[in-house]
Amino acid sequence: MSSFSKAGHLVSLLNKSDIKILKVFASSLKNRQILTLSTLSQYSNLSQSLVEHHLQRLVKFGLIGKSNIGYTLLVTGLDTYVLKILSNRNLITSIGPQIGIGKEAEIYIARDSLGEDKILKMFRLGRSSFKQIKRKRDINTATSSWLLLNIETAKKEYDILMYLRNSSTSFPNPQCRSFHWILMERIYSTRLSDAEHLDYPQFVLEKIINNVRIPYHKGYSHGDLNEYNILVNNDNIFILDWPQAVKVDTINADASLTRDVTNILKFFSRKFGVERDIQNTINIIKGV
Ligand SMILES: Nc1ncnc2c1ncn2[C@@H]1O[C@H](COP(=O)(O)OP(=O)(O)O)[C@@H](O)[C@H]1O
Ligand SMILES: [Mg+2]
Repeated sequence: MSSFSKAGHLVSLLNKSDIKILKVFASSLKNRQILTLSTLSQYSNLSQSLVEHHLQRLVKFGLIGKSNIGYTLLVTGLDTYVLKILSNRNLITSIGPQIGIGKEAEIYIARDSLGEDKILKMFRLGRSSFKQIKRKRDINTATSSWLLLNIETAKKEYDILMYLRNSSTSFPNPQCRSFHWILMERIYSTRLSDAEHLDYPQFVLEKIINNVRIPYHKGYSHGDLNEYNILVNNDNIFILDWPQAVKVDTINADASLTRDVTNILKFFSRKFGVERDIQNTINIIKGV
């Protein structure tokens, strides 16, 4: 069972005080990852004995880790807390199937209170390297830094999507973010990697290049452009997955742009027989 489906199951078993304690962990994550009984009691306004009782439940459910120096929030603990926020704020009424099993995130279809489908992107960055860290290091410290990394990454993608929001209709519209998730518009399209046929591949490629040019002139280059991060629907294209975007005034920017353009041009040449010069395309994007 994934951490998220386990969280979905647990959320209904938790009472108000359990959630209160999870909230203290989640809100102090940035500054303090290991909390003692007395700190938890102070911030939750519950007596130490009550906190101890609830911690026992949370540890048993696998939401909180216990060591000889204190207690730490675990991945399923944050997932469960996040699910509670999503339903309390009436942001979503149900979570449907997991559609994307991307490299760095789990993607779920979620229904909002107006009955519209949205996409819930939960960051799971560095899953395999995390398992290695966990083996070598204390599980509690490793978990906290992993959670922080995923929170930061979600924030980075959300901020970029917000920044690019009005510049093109080819980027998903973000709705909100907190902790390690982003709720965004669902795009009804096929992954370019799965598109067996395109009526006008040259035209689609042109649109992609134009949507590399637009963010470039707003200061960003995507950094992981490939056929899995592009959706196509008739002649419309959408570019997803922005957390690794590179600022164009940094030293890695040129190499990153060249890699992005090369990936896409090679894909179009291989799959659709469309040829285009790499350097010329880069010059068009840069406007030189
Ligand atoms: N807004 C969206 N609308 C529709 N499908 C999406 C959306 N966001 C992601 N997906 C699907 O989920 C997959 C993985 O999402 P992505 O943002 O690329 O995460 P990862 O970092 O895990 O690769 C995408 O290839 C796409 O199929
Ligand atoms: Mg991706």
